[in-house]
Amino acid sequence: MALTGGADRIGVGLVGARGYTGAELVRLLEAHPRFHLAFASSRQGKGKPLSSLCEGAETALLVEELGPADVAARGSAGVAAVILAMPNGQAAAYVEAIEGAGAEAIVVDLSADHRFDARWAYGLPELGRAKLGAARRIANPGCYATGAQLGIAPARGLLSGPPHVFGVSGYSGAGTTPSDKNDPEKLRDNLMPYALTGHIHEREIAHGLGIEVFFTPHVAPFFRGITLTISMPLAAPVSVEALRALYLEAYAAEPLVQVQDEIPLVRDAAGRHGVTIGGITVDAAGRRAVVVVTLDNLLKGAATQALQNLNLACSLPELLGVPS
Ligand SMILES: NC(=O)c1ccc[n+]([C@@H]2O[C@H](COP(=O)([O-])OP(=O)(O)OC[C@H]3O[C@@H](n4cnc5c(N)ncnc54)[C@H](OP(=O)(O)O)[C@@H]3O)[C@@H](O)[C@H]2O)c1
Repeated sequence: MALTGGADRIGVGLVGARGYTGAELVRLLEAHPRFHLAFASSRQGKGKPLSSLCEGAETALLVEELGPADVAARGSAGVAAVILAMPNGQAAAYVEAIEGAGAEAIVVDLSADHRFDARWAYGLPELGRAKLGAARRIANPGCYATGAQLGIAPARGLLSGPPHVFGVSGYSGAGTTPSDKNDPEKLRDNLMPYALTGHIHEREIAHGLGIEVFFTPHVAPFFRGITLTISMPLAAPVSVEALRALYLEAYAAEPLVQVQDEIPLVRDAAGRHGVTIGGITVDAAGRRAVVVVTLDNLLKGAATQALQNLNLACSLPELLGVPS
Protein backbone atom coordinates (compact mmCIF):
# COMPACT_ATOMS: atom_id res chain seq x y z
CA MET A 1 0.00 0.00 0.00
CA ALA A 2 1.50 3.33 -1.05
CA LEU A 3 1.71 5.93 1.70
CA THR A 4 1.93 9.71 1.43
CA GLY A 5 1.45 12.59 3.87
CA GLY A 6 3.12 10.88 6.85
CA ALA A 7 4.38 7.37 7.46
CA ASP A 8 1.04 5.94 8.53
CA ARG A 9 -1.15 7.90 6.11
CA ILE A 10 -2.67 6.50 2.95
CA GLY A 11 -2.86 9.05 0.14
CA VAL A 12 -6.30 9.53 -1.45
CA GLY A 13 -6.98 11.84 -4.39
CA LEU A 14 -10.38 13.36 -5.18
CA VAL A 15 -11.65 14.42 -8.60
CA GLY A 16 -14.83 16.50 -8.34
CA ALA A 17 -13.96 18.32 -5.12
CA ARG A 18 -16.30 21.26 -5.83
CA GLY A 19 -19.42 19.09 -5.93
CA TYR A 20 -21.86 18.24 -3.16
CA THR A 21 -20.53 14.72 -2.68
CA GLY A 22 -16.96 15.96 -3.12
CA ALA A 23 -17.38 18.38 -0.21
CA GLU A 24 -18.68 15.59 2.03
CA LEU A 25 -15.72 13.44 1.06
CA VAL A 26 -13.27 16.23 1.86
CA ARG A 27 -14.73 16.58 5.36
CA LEU A 28 -14.67 12.81 5.95
CA LEU A 29 -11.14 12.35 4.59
CA GLU A 30 -9.80 15.30 6.60
CA ALA A 31 -11.06 13.78 9.83
CA HIS A 32 -10.00 10.22 8.95
CA PRO A 33 -7.26 8.75 11.14
CA ARG A 34 -5.47 6.90 8.31
CA PHE A 35 -6.36 8.57 5.03
CA HIS A 36 -4.70 11.73 3.80
CA LEU A 37 -6.17 13.94 1.11
CA ALA A 38 -3.31 13.94 -1.40
CA PHE A 39 -4.97 16.10 -4.05
CA ALA A 40 -8.32 17.68 -4.84
CA SER A 41 -9.29 18.49 -8.41
CA SER A 42 -11.90 20.86 -9.81
CA ARG A 43 -11.75 22.98 -12.93
CA GLN A 44 -13.77 25.85 -11.48
CA GLY A 45 -11.96 25.72 -8.14
CA LYS A 46 -8.47 25.65 -9.62
CA GLY A 47 -5.94 27.61 -7.54
CA LYS A 48 -8.31 28.27 -4.65
CA PRO A 49 -7.81 26.90 -1.14
CA LEU A 50 -9.95 23.78 -0.78
CA SER A 51 -11.42 25.28 2.39
CA SER A 52 -13.04 27.99 0.23
CA LEU A 53 -14.95 25.33 -1.75
CA CYS A 54 -15.93 23.08 1.14
CA GLU A 55 -17.54 24.62 4.17
CA GLY A 56 -15.97 23.29 7.34
CA ALA A 57 -12.82 22.02 5.61
CA GLU A 58 -9.63 23.07 7.33
CA THR A 59 -7.01 21.76 4.94
CA ALA A 60 -4.47 24.16 3.45
CA LEU A 61 -4.50 22.13 0.23
CA LEU A 62 -4.94 24.15 -2.97
CA VAL A 63 -7.40 22.87 -5.54
CA GLU A 64 -5.83 21.78 -8.83
CA GLU A 65 -7.26 21.17 -12.26
CA LEU A 66 -6.12 17.65 -13.04
CA GLY A 67 -6.98 15.89 -16.26
CA PRO A 68 -6.90 12.11 -16.71
CA ALA A 69 -3.14 11.96 -17.44
CA ASP A 70 -2.33 14.11 -14.37
CA VAL A 71 -4.44 11.91 -12.11
CA ALA A 72 -2.85 8.77 -13.57
CA ALA A 73 0.60 10.23 -12.87
CA ARG A 74 -0.38 10.84 -9.21
CA GLY A 75 -1.69 7.29 -9.09
CA SER A 76 1.72 6.06 -10.23
CA ALA A 77 3.53 8.30 -7.74
CA GLY A 78 2.25 7.13 -4.40
CA VAL A 79 -1.43 8.05 -4.25
CA ALA A 80 -3.07 4.81 -3.15
CA ALA A 81 -6.65 5.59 -4.15
CA VAL A 82 -8.57 7.94 -6.40
CA ILE A 83 -12.20 8.87 -5.82
CA LEU A 84 -14.10 10.04 -8.89
CA ALA A 85 -17.04 12.25 -7.86
CA MET A 86 -18.07 13.60 -11.24
CA PRO A 87 -21.30 13.49 -13.26
CA ASN A 88 -22.21 10.31 -15.12
CA GLY A 89 -20.22 9.75 -18.30
CA GLN A 90 -17.01 11.45 -17.16
CA ALA A 91 -15.17 8.64 -15.34
CA ALA A 92 -14.03 6.55 -18.31
CA ALA A 93 -11.21 8.87 -19.41
CA TYR A 94 -9.75 8.88 -15.89
CA VAL A 95 -10.01 5.11 -15.50
CA GLU A 96 -8.44 4.51 -18.92
CA ALA A 97 -5.54 6.85 -18.10
CA ILE A 98 -4.96 5.21 -14.69
CA GLU A 99 -4.99 1.76 -16.26
CA GLY A 100 -2.92 2.87 -19.25
CA ALA A 101 -0.23 4.20 -16.91
CA GLY A 102 -0.21 0.94 -14.99
CA ALA A 103 -0.94 2.88 -11.79
CA GLU A 104 -1.82 0.68 -8.83
CA ALA A 105 -4.33 3.12 -7.36
CA ILE A 106 -7.68 1.83 -6.15
CA VAL A 107 -10.52 3.65 -7.92
CA VAL A 108 -13.91 4.40 -6.35
CA ASP A 109 -16.39 5.83 -8.86
CA LEU A 110 -19.45 7.62 -7.47
CA SER A 111 -21.13 7.88 -10.87
CA ALA A 112 -23.36 5.24 -12.45
CA ASP A 113 -20.76 4.47 -15.14
CA HIS A 114 -19.46 1.17 -13.70
CA ARG A 115 -22.40 -0.12 -11.64
CA PHE A 116 -23.30 -2.70 -14.30
CA ASP A 117 -19.73 -3.63 -15.16
CA ALA A 118 -18.91 -7.12 -13.86
CA ARG A 119 -15.21 -6.20 -13.67
CA TRP A 120 -16.04 -3.68 -10.95
CA ALA A 121 -17.11 -4.51 -7.40
CA TYR A 122 -20.48 -3.04 -6.45
CA GLY A 123 -19.94 -1.24 -3.17
CA LEU A 124 -22.99 -1.79 -0.99
CA PRO A 125 -21.23 -3.43 1.98
CA GLU A 126 -24.35 -4.41 3.95
CA LEU A 127 -25.49 -6.61 1.04
CA GLY A 128 -22.10 -8.06 0.11
CA ARG A 129 -18.84 -6.90 1.64
CA ALA A 130 -16.73 -10.02 1.07
CA LYS A 131 -15.56 -9.03 -2.42
CA LEU A 132 -14.74 -5.45 -1.39
CA GLY A 133 -11.63 -6.34 0.61
CA ALA A 134 -9.71 -7.29 -2.51
CA ALA A 135 -11.38 -4.80 -4.85
CA ARG A 136 -9.30 -2.35 -6.90
CA ARG A 137 -12.24 -0.93 -8.84
CA ILE A 138 -15.37 -0.07 -6.87
CA ALA A 139 -18.63 1.27 -8.25
CA ASN A 140 -20.32 3.24 -5.47
CA PRO A 141 -24.10 2.69 -5.53
CA GLY A 142 -26.66 5.37 -6.29
CA CYS A 143 -28.40 7.13 -3.42
CA TYR A 144 -31.98 5.97 -4.11
CA ALA A 145 -30.61 2.55 -5.07
CA THR A 146 -28.85 2.18 -1.71
CA GLY A 147 -32.03 2.86 0.26
CA ALA A 148 -34.27 0.79 -1.99
CA GLN A 149 -32.04 -2.28 -1.98
CA LEU A 150 -31.62 -2.19 1.80
CA GLY A 151 -35.38 -1.67 2.16
CA ILE A 152 -36.35 -4.60 -0.08
CA ALA A 153 -33.58 -7.16 0.53
CA PRO A 154 -34.92 -8.78 3.73
CA ALA A 155 -38.35 -9.34 2.11
CA ARG A 156 -37.06 -10.40 -1.32
CA GLY A 157 -37.85 -14.08 -0.83
CA LEU A 158 -41.49 -13.35 0.12
CA LEU A 159 -42.54 -11.41 -2.96
CA SER A 160 -45.08 -12.37 -5.62
CA GLY A 161 -44.21 -9.51 -7.96
CA PRO A 162 -42.24 -6.28 -8.37
CA PRO A 163 -41.99 -3.87 -5.44
CA HIS A 164 -43.13 -0.31 -6.16
CA VAL A 165 -40.68 2.24 -4.83
CA PHE A 166 -41.92 5.81 -4.45
CA GLY A 167 -38.85 7.96 -3.89
CA VAL A 168 -38.47 11.62 -2.93
CA SER A 169 -35.07 13.29 -2.82
CA GLY A 170 -33.81 16.63 -1.67
CA TYR A 171 -32.50 18.72 -4.54
CA SER A 172 -28.81 18.18 -3.73
CA GLY A 173 -29.41 14.80 -5.40
CA ALA A 174 -29.37 16.63 -8.73
CA GLY A 175 -25.84 17.97 -8.19
CA THR A 176 -24.64 21.52 -8.79
CA THR A 177 -25.22 21.84 -12.54
CA PRO A 178 -28.30 24.10 -12.80
CA SER A 179 -31.51 22.32 -13.87
CA ASP A 180 -35.21 22.35 -13.01
CA LYS A 181 -34.49 19.63 -10.44
CA ASN A 182 -32.24 21.85 -8.33
CA ASP A 183 -33.88 25.22 -8.99
CA PRO A 184 -35.27 26.37 -5.61
CA GLU A 185 -37.76 28.65 -7.37
CA LYS A 186 -39.25 25.84 -9.47
CA LEU A 187 -39.31 23.58 -6.42
CA ARG A 188 -40.90 26.10 -4.06
CA ASP A 189 -44.20 24.71 -2.65
CA ASN A 190 -43.77 21.85 -5.07
CA LEU A 191 -42.95 18.18 -5.54
CA MET A 192 -41.53 17.36 -8.96
CA PRO A 193 -41.94 13.86 -10.44
CA TYR A 194 -39.40 12.89 -13.12
CA ALA A 195 -38.08 9.86 -15.04
CA LEU A 196 -41.37 8.02 -14.38
CA THR A 197 -40.08 4.90 -16.11
CA GLY A 198 -36.57 3.74 -16.80
CA HIS A 199 -34.63 5.77 -14.20
CA ILE A 200 -31.09 4.42 -14.02
CA HIS A 201 -31.64 3.54 -10.35
CA GLU A 202 -34.65 1.36 -11.31
CA ARG A 203 -32.25 -0.73 -13.36
CA GLU A 204 -29.64 -0.63 -10.60
CA ILE A 205 -32.04 -1.80 -7.88
CA ALA A 206 -33.28 -4.61 -10.12
CA HIS A 207 -29.73 -5.58 -11.06
CA GLY A 208 -28.58 -5.59 -7.43
CA LEU A 209 -31.51 -7.61 -6.09
CA GLY A 210 -32.09 -9.84 -9.12
CA ILE A 211 -35.83 -9.01 -9.29
CA GLU A 212 -38.01 -6.65 -11.27
CA VAL A 213 -38.68 -3.32 -9.53
CA PHE A 214 -40.79 -0.26 -10.37
CA PHE A 215 -39.29 3.03 -9.23
CA THR A 216 -40.78 6.53 -9.48
CA PRO A 217 -38.48 9.38 -8.36
CA HIS A 218 -39.48 12.87 -7.23
CA VAL A 219 -37.52 15.88 -6.11
CA ALA A 220 -38.62 18.12 -3.24
CA PRO A 221 -37.69 21.64 -2.01
CA PHE A 222 -35.53 20.45 0.88
CA PHE A 223 -31.75 20.28 0.30
CA ARG A 224 -30.67 16.83 1.46
CA GLY A 225 -32.23 13.50 2.38
CA ILE A 226 -34.24 10.79 0.66
CA THR A 227 -37.44 9.08 1.71
CA LEU A 228 -38.61 5.91 -0.02
CA THR A 229 -42.02 4.33 0.49
CA ILE A 230 -41.76 0.74 -0.73
CA SER A 231 -44.89 -1.32 -1.40
CA MET A 232 -44.32 -5.06 -1.87
CA PRO A 233 -46.83 -7.75 -2.96
CA LEU A 234 -46.50 -10.90 -0.84
CA ALA A 235 -46.78 -14.42 -2.26
CA ALA A 236 -48.38 -15.72 0.96
CA PRO A 237 -49.82 -14.00 4.03
CA VAL A 238 -47.17 -12.78 6.47
CA SER A 239 -47.79 -11.26 9.89
CA VAL A 240 -46.40 -7.83 10.65
CA GLU A 241 -44.55 -9.31 13.63
CA ALA A 242 -42.82 -11.86 11.39
CA LEU A 243 -41.90 -9.20 8.86
CA ARG A 244 -40.47 -6.85 11.49
CA ALA A 245 -38.48 -9.75 12.96
CA LEU A 246 -37.06 -10.47 9.51
CA TYR A 247 -35.81 -6.91 9.13
CA LEU A 248 -34.44 -6.75 12.68
CA GLU A 249 -32.56 -10.00 12.17
CA ALA A 250 -31.22 -9.01 8.75
CA TYR A 251 -29.63 -5.83 10.07
CA ALA A 252 -28.89 -6.73 13.71
CA ALA A 253 -25.14 -6.63 13.05
CA GLU A 254 -25.19 -3.56 10.80
CA PRO A 255 -24.34 -0.35 12.67
CA LEU A 256 -25.39 1.85 9.73
CA VAL A 257 -28.85 0.31 9.31
CA GLN A 258 -31.39 1.11 11.99
CA VAL A 259 -34.72 -0.75 12.04
CA GLN A 260 -37.47 0.93 14.07
CA ASP A 261 -41.21 0.63 14.60
CA GLU A 262 -42.00 4.27 13.79
CA ILE A 263 -42.17 5.67 10.29
CA PRO A 264 -38.82 7.47 9.81
CA LEU A 265 -38.91 11.12 8.73
CA VAL A 266 -36.59 12.45 6.07
CA ARG A 267 -35.65 15.58 8.01
CA ASP A 268 -34.15 13.35 10.70
CA ALA A 269 -31.93 11.66 8.09
CA ALA A 270 -30.09 14.85 7.10
CA GLY A 271 -26.51 14.79 8.31
CA ARG A 272 -26.71 11.18 9.54
CA HIS A 273 -24.43 8.49 8.18
CA GLY A 274 -26.81 5.52 8.18
CA VAL A 275 -30.11 4.32 6.79
CA THR A 276 -33.33 4.05 8.80
CA ILE A 277 -36.00 1.47 7.93
CA GLY A 278 -39.30 1.74 9.73
CA GLY A 279 -43.07 1.85 9.61
CA ILE A 280 -42.95 -1.83 8.58
CA THR A 281 -46.53 -2.87 8.03
CA VAL A 282 -48.71 -5.47 6.30
CA ASP A 283 -52.25 -4.92 4.99
CA ALA A 284 -55.28 -6.60 6.55
CA ALA A 285 -55.12 -9.61 4.19
CA GLY A 286 -51.42 -10.09 4.86
CA ARG A 287 -50.71 -9.78 1.12
CA ARG A 288 -48.97 -6.42 0.83
CA ALA A 289 -46.09 -5.13 2.90
CA VAL A 290 -45.01 -1.49 3.12
CA VAL A 291 -41.76 -0.14 4.54
CA VAL A 292 -40.31 3.36 4.68
CA VAL A 293 -36.58 4.03 4.26
CA THR A 294 -34.75 7.29 4.87
CA LEU A 295 -31.12 8.23 4.34
CA ASP A 296 -28.94 11.21 3.57
CA ASN A 297 -28.25 11.06 -0.17
CA LEU A 298 -24.88 12.79 0.26
CA LEU A 299 -23.69 10.50 3.09
CA LYS A 300 -24.85 6.86 3.10
CA GLY A 301 -26.13 7.59 -0.42
CA ALA A 302 -22.65 8.68 -1.55
CA ALA A 303 -19.68 9.84 0.61
CA THR A 304 -20.06 7.66 3.71
CA GLN A 305 -20.57 4.61 1.53
CA ALA A 306 -17.46 5.52 -0.50
CA LEU A 307 -15.51 5.73 2.75
CA GLN A 308 -16.80 2.29 3.86
CA ASN A 309 -15.69 0.91 0.51
CA LEU A 310 -12.29 2.56 0.62
CA ASN A 311 -11.70 1.36 4.18
CA LEU A 312 -12.52 -2.21 3.13
CA ALA A 313 -10.32 -2.04 0.04
CA CYS A 314 -7.43 -0.75 2.19
CA SER A 315 -7.96 -3.51 4.81
CA LEU A 316 -9.02 -0.97 7.43
CA PRO A 317 -12.07 -1.32 9.72
CA GLU A 318 -15.09 -0.57 7.55
CA LEU A 319 -16.39 2.24 9.73
CA LEU A 320 -13.05 3.90 10.50
CA GLY A 321 -13.57 7.64 10.20
CA VAL A 322 -17.38 7.38 9.97
CA PRO A 323 -18.72 9.60 12.77
CA SER A 324 -21.07 7.65 15.06
N1 LIG B 1 -25.69 14.32 -5.21
C1 LIG B 1 -26.05 13.14 -4.74
O1 LIG B 1 -26.92 13.03 -3.88
C2 LIG B 1 -25.37 11.90 -5.22
C3 LIG B 1 -25.58 10.71 -4.54
C4 LIG B 1 -24.96 9.53 -5.01
C5 LIG B 1 -24.16 9.59 -6.14
N2 LIG B 1 -23.99 10.77 -6.78
C6 LIG B 1 -23.14 10.76 -7.96
O2 LIG B 1 -21.89 11.34 -7.58
C7 LIG B 1 -21.35 12.09 -8.66
C8 LIG B 1 -21.09 13.52 -8.19
O3 LIG B 1 -22.33 14.07 -7.80
P1 LIG B 1 -22.46 15.52 -7.17
O4 LIG B 1 -23.87 15.70 -6.78
O5 LIG B 1 -21.39 15.74 -6.15
O6 LIG B 1 -22.16 16.40 -8.47
P2 LIG B 1 -21.92 17.95 -8.57
O7 LIG B 1 -22.28 18.61 -7.29
O8 LIG B 1 -22.61 18.41 -9.79
O9 LIG B 1 -20.32 18.04 -8.76
C9 LIG B 1 -19.71 17.51 -9.87
C10 LIG B 1 -18.19 17.68 -9.74
O10 LIG B 1 -17.60 17.13 -10.91
C11 LIG B 1 -16.76 18.11 -11.53
N3 LIG B 1 -16.89 17.91 -12.97
C12 LIG B 1 -18.01 18.07 -13.72
N4 LIG B 1 -17.77 17.74 -15.01
C13 LIG B 1 -16.46 17.36 -15.05
C14 LIG B 1 -15.61 16.90 -16.09
N5 LIG B 1 -16.05 16.80 -17.36
N6 LIG B 1 -14.32 16.61 -15.79
C15 LIG B 1 -13.85 16.74 -14.53
N7 LIG B 1 -14.62 17.17 -13.49
C16 LIG B 1 -15.90 17.46 -13.76
C17 LIG B 1 -17.24 19.44 -11.02
O11 LIG B 1 -16.22 20.38 -10.84
P3 LIG B 1 -15.67 21.38 -11.91
O12 LIG B 1 -16.80 21.67 -12.85
O13 LIG B 1 -15.23 22.57 -11.13
O14 LIG B 1 -14.52 20.64 -12.54
C18 LIG B 1 -17.73 19.10 -9.61
O15 LIG B 1 -16.66 19.15 -8.71
C19 LIG B 1 -22.37 11.99 -9.80
O16 LIG B 1 -22.00 10.98 -10.69
C20 LIG B 1 -23.66 11.62 -9.09
O17 LIG B 1 -24.54 10.89 -9.92
C21 LIG B 1 -24.54 11.92 -6.35
